[in-house]
Amino acid sequence: MNRLESIRREVDSILLHLVSDEDRRCGFVHLYGVSLTATWLAERRGLDVELAAVAGMLHDLATYASGDSTDHARRGSELATRLLNQLGLFSREEIAAIAQAIARHSDKASIDGPMDELLKDADVLHHWLYDPALPAQASHAERRGRLREQMARRLHSE
Ligand SMILES: [Fe+2]
Repeated sequence: MNRLESIRREVDSILLHLVSDEDRRCGFVHLYGVSLTATWLAERRGLDVELAAVAGMLHDLATYASGDSTDHARRGSELATRLLNQLGLFSREEIAAIAQAIARHSDKASIDGPMDELLKDADVLHHWLYDPALPAQASHAERRGRLREQMARRLHSE
């Protein structure tokens, strides 16, 4: 089994034990969804696709696992670090990069490093794609606009 699948097994085992059907559904849709949008953005931006996919899988896991979104980026980062250390499949540098992206992902207004930005954009993109008819949350609007411009520029150059 590859490393991404190992992470998915861990995430699945937590989500499958959630009591509420709706929480389980939201957890699977959002974590797998952000993992896919993160992978796609990493391919486009020349970043590490595997780390991007793993960060997407883990970024909101603490919220789903606890049913509490308080301080969820920091708690998510700590949970990801614990889980990745336990698995023993990732280097210290890889774990630090994933943990940092998760810790920063709620701060959509700031511009951070490339992997941090990727996770923020992947989160915004997934909320957008899940229901394009819904207007963006206030904190997502600017990023959604930038993503839309990037995609339009790309289409015109193809
Ligand atoms: Fe999220």
